[in-house]
Amino acid sequence: MATVLSDELLQQIATTWGTPVYVYHAEKIKEQYERLLKAFAKADVRFFYAAKALTNISVLKYVKSIGCNIDCSSINEVQLAVKAGYTPENILYTSNNIHFSEIETAHDLGVHINIDSISNLRKFGQKYGHSYPVGIRLRPNIMAGGNLKISTGHSSSKFGIPLEQLDEVLALVKETGLFIRTLHIHTGSEIKDVEVFARGIEVLLEVVQLFPELEVVDLGGGFKVPYKPNEHGTDIEQLGQKVAEEFEIFKKRTGKHLQVWFEPGKYMVSEAGHFVTSVNVLKESAEHNFAGIDTGLNHLIRPMFYGSYHKIDNISNPSASHKHYNIVGYICETDTFAENRSMPEIREGDLLVVRNAGAYCYEMASNYNSRFRPAEVLVVNGQPHLIRRRENLDDLLVGQVDLF
Ligand code: LLP
Repeated sequence: MATVLSDELLQQIATTWGTPVYVYHAEKIKEQYERLLKAFAKADVRFFYAAKALTNISVLKYVKSIGCNIDCSSINEVQLAVKAGYTPENILYTSNNIHFSEIETAHDLGVHINIDSISNLRKFGQKYGHSYPVGIRLRPNIMAGGNLKISTGHSSSKFGIPLEQLDEVLALVKETGLFIRTLHIHTGSEIKDVEVFARGIEVLLEVVQLFPELEVVDLGGGFKVPYKPNEHGTDIEQLGQKVAEEFEIFKKRTGKHLQVWFEPGKYMVSEAGHFVTSVNVLKESAEHNFAGIDTGLNHLIRPMFYGSYHKIDNISNPSASHKHYNIVGYICETDTFAENRSMPEIREGDLLVVRNAGAYCYEMASNYNSRFRPAEVLVVNGQPHLIRRRENLDDLLVGQVDLF
């Protein structure tokens, strides 16, 4: 199975559909999913793809076709999942500070729901009592993740119900008869250290006994994938082993079997994505060689927003001798993709490919500076398919009311 996209194919796609263009490799997504299944084979685990990473409907359908479930972070994502053909049993809605009406809609659609505030939990209990199993998202007060912006489980995070408020949750359960089936945590994104997941498991297993009807422990997403050359991601095999062991020990001790859920986003799609751009302008100054590309923070904001590193390859001139470049965008802001990066010599018109562009890249794109959002292409069995056309001027005006 070919899991590497050739530069020739990326070049061909750029010629056919122009640049900038996002290219996703279906078999790479499948490879990642199969690696998860293998690593966790000894545990009772279900995976829900965190759709927020990339929601193109063809990607959602592909993920479904390989047997993966889906995790949603808005009611619109839930609706997209339904459109993509997922059944309610395979859809999870992990909510975060949302209006209760979205939870009502999710309930009516029959999907799994994780609730993250006492306020919504109370409304849920008062309205549905014991009739509908529900999950609660806890804040375990664990610091985790690649940087503070993507760290969600620490003691000043807005996410989840703080662990120290469990008494209130228990009182609510008693008062309204809530059927708590799932305890959920998600401590952050890009968690390399298996020990961090182990701490999360430890925290949850200490409190599961308080919920006699519990069936599922949901450990969220956050598996790290390598972005930099020579960087390592989470040791999935070690984590799979750890999860199997911990839950087996728990079962022996308590007689209770718990299913484990995970919600991987980046792990599923990050490495499958390649963002193909071309060089508009070269500019030399005393300090820097600038390579200005035909995109910017409007299309891929991760380097500017999180300081994230993305590998960038010059696929038009790969064997040229190296020079140092600041690779910058065309937006009227400082949108630097890479600073002082050693690259094969760049010429105007060269194609530069930003790697690891599957997760949170197109998904966080905007129309800033009234730029069009790029096209998206999915490569399946070596064949490229357009799955979203590039926008045009009409798209910029859609929904606007021309008052004058
Ligand atoms: N589950 C929940 C409840 C989440 O909030 C998230 C991500 C995930 C699962 C998936 O996490 P992953 O496996 O992708 O790390 N835009 C940022 C990442 C934000 C993640 C938000 N929540 C970035 O580009 O790094």
